[in-house]
Amino acid sequence: MSTSYQARFRVWRGDTGGGDLQDFRVEVNEGEVVLDIVHRLQATQAPDLAVRWNCKAGKCGSCSAEINGRPRLMCMTRMSVFGRDETVTITPLRAFPVVRDLVTDVSFNYAKARQIPSFVPPRDLLPGEYRMQQEDVDRPQEFRKCIECFLCQDTCHVVRDHEENKPAFAGPRFLMRVAELDMHPLDAAADTGLDRKRTAQDEHGLGYCNITKCCTEVCPEGIKITDNALIPLKERAVDRKYDPLVWLGSKIRRRSSAG
Ligand code: SF4
Ligand code: SF4
Ligand code: FES
Repeated sequence: MSTSYQARFRVWRGDTGGGDLQDFRVEVNEGEVVLDIVHRLQATQAPDLAVRWNCKAGKCGSCSAEINGRPRLMCMTRMSVFGRDETVTITPLRAFPVVRDLVTDVSFNYAKARQIPSFVPPRDLLPGEYRMQQEDVDRPQEFRKCIECFLCQDTCHVVRDHEENKPAFAGPRFLMRVAELDMHPLDAAADTGLDRKRTAQDEHGLGYCNITKCCTEVCPEGIKITDNALIPLKERAVDRKYDPLVWLGSKIRRRSSAG
């Protein structure tokens, strides 16, 4: 069988005013990924096709799109996963507003990132004096693999077709960030009166998540967002709310700090 063939592609073209799917036939060679084909399409038939990419190595998180309806990185999706007769449809991320063609405005995510207070260093230790157990390092290290492709944010049903939920819901990537900080043994947020578990519930919409694991399924870094971040965060938030000892402890702490 020849190693090159002509594949059928349908690509969404348009802008904020609307758009449509357009059909193309593009050459595919052995070992190529979807982003290669999009580049060939730009080079040969659609020079003004807008597409965002940087690394072509699954590390910058900018080539996110929906391929046959599934949120994926174009540079990490091999053409060999599709049949030669199959039409490959590429559309922009559905949860975010289109700028043009395959480029969306993902600023929702940056706004959510800014709403999460950063790590609070312990007051009684200087940088260089921080000590952590290896198991405490291992857990957040998984979350730090995030490349901010926002595929999880795009796929989560809480916001995917529900623009109205966006103000109240940070999305899996940023709830994972809250979990990471809440699990951090040196984070001194509580000493400043910041209760990360409470903010996860009250300000970042943790309660909207019904642990469907769709976010985990699309993560190109294989981060177990639901099992390792969201469920533990939910457990810790619920413990805090319903555990009478935790409740009493927080009351006493609040009273003594007020005095
Ligand atoms: S597990 Fe939660 S955050 Fe992830 S997709 Fe499902 S509802 Fe969204
Ligand atoms: S958690 Fe995974 S899917 Fe979500 S933004 Fe990070 S790398 Fe992408
Ligand atoms: S181009 Fe960087 S992740 Fe695809």
